[in-house]
Amino acid sequence: MIKNDLFLKALKGETVDRPPVWMMRQAGRYLPEFMAIKKKYDFFTRCQTPELASEITVQPIKRYGMDAAILFSDILVIPQAMNIEVEMKPNFGPYLPNPIRKPKDLDSVIVPDIEDTLGYIMDAIKMTKEKLNDEIPLIGFAGSPWTILCYCVQGQGSKNFDLAKGFCFTQPAAAHQLLQKITDTTIAYLKEKVKAGVNAVQVFDSWGGMLSQTDYQEFSFQYIQQIIDALKDEAPVIVFGKGCWFALNDMAKSGASALGVDWTCSARNARYLSGGKITLQGNFDPSRLLSPPTEIKKMVYQMINEFGKDNYIVNLGHGILPNIPLENAGAFVEAVKEYTV
Ligand code: CP3
Repeated sequence: MIKNDLFLKALKGETVDRPPVWMMRQAGRYLPEFMAIKKKYDFFTRCQTPELASEITVQPIKRYGMDAAILFSDILVIPQAMNIEVEMKPNFGPYLPNPIRKPKDLDSVIVPDIEDTLGYIMDAIKMTKEKLNDEIPLIGFAGSPWTILCYCVQGQGSKNFDLAKGFCFTQPAAAHQLLQKITDTTIAYLKEKVKAGVNAVQVFDSWGGMLSQTDYQEFSFQYIQQIIDALKDEAPVIVFGKGCWFALNDMAKSGASALGVDWTCSARNARYLSGGKITLQGNFDPSRLLSPPTEIKKMVYQMINEFGKDNYIVNLGHGILPNIPLENAGAFVEAVKEYTV
């Protein structure tokens, strides 16, 4: 039994005294204790060493006491396990030296054995669960197949992922083959994560908003739906599609337990589009954490009132930024803990 079960209650739609709070990308660069570890070990060493990954996961919890932890890892461990080389270049971000650009490039892409390739993540989950000592739940995650395809084809981050979209629109058969391989890998991976101990899973469709509503169905959501179908009886599934307000209606009928919302979609619109009932998660503008702490607290209070305290998980509308003062991140979490109706 998990002592603080606010997050799990919100995912079930149960009534709570206050909503739970966590922050996307909470384990990271705005924390000095994270920077100290980062100085000593490169990115994938941090991911692949359970001792380090579990320590980084609990760092923000020790400092701020969020209601859920998210495992320190990255969405790009999936292409790596599928035999696609991924580097994390300092001050640049992900770099894939051999991107997928034509059907032949798919020949070497495998659907791997999860234990062989990603067993280190299961070890990190077990170690993190020990450190959390059943105080709060642990979230596991994966990128959506479309968002993973974006990196596999583009080869690096991008403002518009033009090469990834071009690949889908000019070579749709190859694109669907790649998306299905990523989906099959992701399903096996998330099932293993649940077995290892995560209490919920989140699918990050960070680049879903690059697609039109029609293309979203074809190249992104149908694959997310396969993941939900395969996971929903084993753990609650949260779907976060950045810029995907247009898909909230379909997502609400998908079997997901909660839907992420970014700050460009109002609480009112998100409730309306999702049919008013399903648990929503979001949507504080990450840049607004640059405001003074007193202002942050007022805005958080207002945000909770707009979404309503039930069927709601307080979060940012995307990942926390590296330049956020520690005190401001603290004000965000405190505001929620101080919330009373
Ligand atoms: O939420 C957490 O605190 C857990 C850790 C986490 C990381 N990546 C660690 C990380 C999570 C949930 C992710 C997910 C992720 N990774 C996404 C989806 C969420 C989102 O932000 O949209 C995406 C698109 C990626 C791919 C990725 N990884 C990029 C674009 C970058 C470089 C830009 C950046 O954010 O720094 C990374 C590197 C990365 N992943 C870092 C961290 C802490 C920073 C690099 C480092 O620490 O050396």
